[in-house]
Amino acid sequence: MIKIAIFASGEGSNLQALIDAQDTGLFKGKIGLIFSNVPESGAMKRGENQRIESVAIASKGYPGSREEYDREVLELCQNKKIDLICLAGYMRILTPVLIRPYLYKMMNIHPALLPKFGGEGMYGHHVHEAVIKAKEKESGATVHFVTEGVDAGPIILQGNVKVLPGDTQATLAEKVLRVEHHLYPEAVRLFCAGKIKVGDGRVKIQP
Ligand code: GRF
Repeated sequence: MIKIAIFASGEGSNLQALIDAQDTGLFKGKIGLIFSNVPESGAMKRGENQRIESVAIASKGYPGSREEYDREVLELCQNKKIDLICLAGYMRILTPVLIRPYLYKMMNIHPALLPKFGGEGMYGHHVHEAVIKAKEKESGATVHFVTEGVDAGPIILQGNVKVLPGDTQATLAEKVLRVEHHLYPEAVRLFCAGKIKVGDGRVKIQP
């Protein structure tokens, strides 16, 4: 059984979608850890309500370096024998200390159709504002593996939404989030079923 950790800093609606998918038996995996860098986040509350082990290490005011922080997180994941890390609104850029040991075992969800509208500074409402400003006809969500470039890892799945005249960043964010809540559980299902292979830096989904 694949043991999953979910990392989140905010509201945690994707975290909730993953918990709900687990409860319906969508994937053969177990969410064994919720981790947050924001102790008072909605994500932590959801984890505690669901009686899933939930650990927070406040990044604000953390006395050490980013690498030291990530080393603590890595040790936590290794001690708990985590096989897959799902970043779900985890608002921190990771260092290689954590990325390398979990290469192709760590996913992220991004609220746009990567490689467009990704990279540093492209998070939350900034993404949707940029999509509207660029007069894109469609946007969507992307689940990808985490590598050392921000939002640059191999793409696993994408889901599209139409950008309609009159859409605001808020209406677009809502539509994209609805897609995310299906896309992320499906990516986890594929991972747990051993259907995701990476070759030449690209993902191949096996039938
Ligand atoms: C989502 O839009 C996700 O794509 C991005 O952060 C947001 C998290 O939302 N990485 P939530 O905390 O899961 O509600």
